[in-house]
Amino acid sequence: MGTTMVRLHPKNRVLAWVEDRLPILSFLSSHTSGYYAPKNFNLWYYFGSLAMLVLVNQILTGIFLTMFYKPSALEVAPGISAAFASVEYIMRDVEWGWLIRYMHSTGASLFFVVVYLHMFRGLMYGSFKKPRELVWILGMLIFLALMAEAFMGYVLPWGNMSFWGAKVIISLFGTVPWIGESLVEWIMGDYLPADATLNRFFALHVIALPLVLLLLVVLHLGALHEVGSNNPDGVEIKQKKKEDGTPLDGIAFHPYYTVKDIFGVGVFLFIAAFIIFYAPTFGGWFLEHDNFIPANNLATPTHIKPVWYFTPFYAILRMIPSFFGSAIWGVIAMFGSIVLLFLMPWIDAGPVKSIRYRGLGYKVALGLFAVSFVMLGAVGAGVSAEMIPKWFGAEADATFIENLFGRFWTAVYFGFFVFLWFYSRGRERTKPVPERVTMHD
Ligand code: HEM
Repeated sequence: MGTTMVRLHPKNRVLAWVEDRLPILSFLSSHTSGYYAPKNFNLWYYFGSLAMLVLVNQILTGIFLTMFYKPSALEVAPGISAAFASVEYIMRDVEWGWLIRYMHSTGASLFFVVVYLHMFRGLMYGSFKKPRELVWILGMLIFLALMAEAFMGYVLPWGNMSFWGAKVIISLFGTVPWIGESLVEWIMGDYLPADATLNRFFALHVIALPLVLLLLVVLHLGALHEVGSNNPDGVEIKQKKKEDGTPLDGIAFHPYYTVKDIFGVGVFLFIAAFIIFYAPTFGGWFLEHDNFIPANNLATPTHIKPVWYFTPFYAILRMIPSFFGSAIWGVIAMFGSIVLLFLMPWIDAGPVKSIRYRGLGYKVALGLFAVSFVMLGAVGAGVSAEMIPKWFGAEADATFIENLFGRFWTAVYFGFFVFLWFYSRGRERTKPVPERVTMHD
């Protein structure tokens, strides 16, 4: 166990009465002051607690949005759905509605910023390796649930990009052999994204998926506290213990890390407030211009693209050509790019956890992997298509150049996993890992 459970006996008689029957305070204290975490946590260890903060923000602001939002695609004025109109109502008429909505929409993007950095930390320090495989798997399940949650939330305002985004993404299921078409109809509940689609997405977005997310986060932390946190040195602190049984290189999560995390929260809120008050659409990256136009099934936006946090995966989808008349290969590649992350604990067989003591190959490969993710993100967002005429002239074959560029970075993305498989099996030259974390007296 990574935690020490001490039965508390509060002085207050009411609390003591409850505690004797349901030891909730003992449970909480065992996971805070009784949880020993490595003392060498750095900046990268802020993002777990920040992800929890954003999750709470999304739930709280979401509850208030639900009080005024109407999940209906039915028209209240020519070409304007009740859903779209209710979002405008929240923005213009509901007291502080604009703030609640911007906190929610900015929160969605910041959620992904925080989670991507949180995942990258795991890759840097080998936190997915034994004994934390399940912490990683649960994290990946959270990531999937989060993607579904964000996608469905994006559909709710019933703007033009909501409609066309839903159409493109749901149509992907149409590539499944035999049952594809029926599957698409079943998901939409209609022949196009329509009122039925919006109603079910609302149900999933406001209750089903948040419940799944909350449950997964509890399991994620439960699994983490069972085995204990990793750290930037990748040293297992439980192997060296003091006489009282606590790790020599561990400090109590409360008060030491609660204080550190509160500092992180302060900095984060400062950045979040700046965006919410001064740049809520973030130049069209957090709230897209096309989504301020009501849904119209006869007017396709010029460039259909998802919000920035999906664009790397969207680029992979687009970069894989159709073979044998089927577009399913792009869909397989896109899902495959996520499945491979799930499998990291088994793809990487290297004995050393932290990048600090791993071979040069891992450092370069992980660096390139991160660059490929950003580059694919740019391709998916249409940045490269925008830049090509500027860099290569208006006559250049933009599609050809974009495909070349996008396919190169797709190959780098997948190449990371292939390389790691072989490299970590006997080809890596690692440095000696210290016995204790490097920050000790
Ligand atoms: C709602 C989203 C998430 C929340 C609230 C969350 C929360 C946390 C918290 C509080 C910690 C402990 C503090 C820390 O190490 O930063 C943690 C650790 C961890 N998380 Fe997450 N997490 C989320 C998503 C993910 C995802 C998507 C992954 C990756 C697939 C992941 C993988 C990990 C790993 C491997 C650790 C252990 C890190 C270590 O000990 O070095 N988490 N998470």
